Amino acid sequence: MYPLIRNRRLRASESIRRLVRETIVTPDDFLVPLFVVEGKGIKEEIPSMPNYYRMSLDHLEKEVKEIWQMGLCSVLLFVKVSDSLKDNKGTEALNPEGLMQRAIKTVKNACPEMLVMTDVALDPFSSYGHDGIVAEGKILNDETSEVLAEMSISHARAGADFVAPSDMMDGRILTIREALEEEGFQNTGIMSYSAKYASAFYGPFRDALDSAPVDIANVPKDKKTYQMDYANRFEAIRETQMDIDEGADIVMVKPGLAYLDIVREIKNEVEVPVAVYQVSGEYVMLKAAAEKGWLDHDSVMLEQLTAIKRAGANIIASYFAKDFIGMIG
Ligand code: PBG
Repeated sequence: MYPLIRNRRLRASESIRRLVRETIVTPDDFLVPLFVVEGKGIKEEIPSMPNYYRMSLDHLEKEVKEIWQMGLCSVLLFVKVSDSLKDNKGTEALNPEGLMQRAIKTVKNACPEMLVMTDVALDPFSSYGHDGIVAEGKILNDETSEVLAEMSISHARAGADFVAPSDMMDGRILTIREALEEEGFQNTGIMSYSAKYASAFYGPFRDALDSAPVDIANVPKDKKTYQMDYANRFEAIRETQMDIDEGADIVMVKPGLAYLDIVREIKNEVEVPVAVYQVSGEYVMLKAAAEKGWLDHDSVMLEQLTAIKRAGANIIASYFAKDFIGMIG
């Protein structure tokens, strides 16, 4: 007890702080989201995501070589497809020569050891901007899972190491796992977006992929019938446990910062690696505040990333990955 115990002794110098520090973010923690577009020579800044780009396959090749050089070893691929290829069932997602399939091969050719995870959801391919098939104003569950399973096989065939279903249909992990087994992809992993909340923080991402739900009659205007209500915590645990039972190798909480209570709770409950997605809205809030000179970019970035890891994240999907490497030099 005080005065014999003085907690400040362990904070007295940078050396003692380094010695007793519990949480250290490293390049190994990151999963780097990358946005791919059709075309050649394209590297366009996403208007609502400063310093983040959509790139064509030739630039993707350069990018993955660069980030591998920087010490980053895992990417999460997303594609932006043109409106003319979109339909209700996301048919283009299954095209063996589709943009995602070519992107996977591009990354693997450029950098064979880079771990490739792929987004599995219908929204970038859906004419309605939904993660599932729409019928009479509703999102069909089981029919959607079947498409997601085919999509997963197609990604595995192109060389993906992990598929990452981000859709929140019930039972899709089991459907995907069984389909992968049947096709001989026993070694393809599943990172499930298991506790994904219906969040307004996804806005800039939907701009990046032009994937927001459309505003037309008989199409749900939001994703609240599949993504979770942000007021709830028990269902996050239930969702996560069910996904593990169905065969998820890695589970995820999304968004990050506003949901770190959920991250900690899930971390305490489960034995599989927990990923956290620090989403587009979180990224742009800091970029905007820093641009205005209201926050110090790098200090706040490191504080946030450390907080995410301290809360229990084993993996952080983050648009700050390269900024972080730049900062630690
Ligand atoms: C869609 C998907 C979304 C994100 C990743 N996959 C958006 C959504 O659910 O509408 C959001 C990522 C981000 O905001 O950075 N399947």
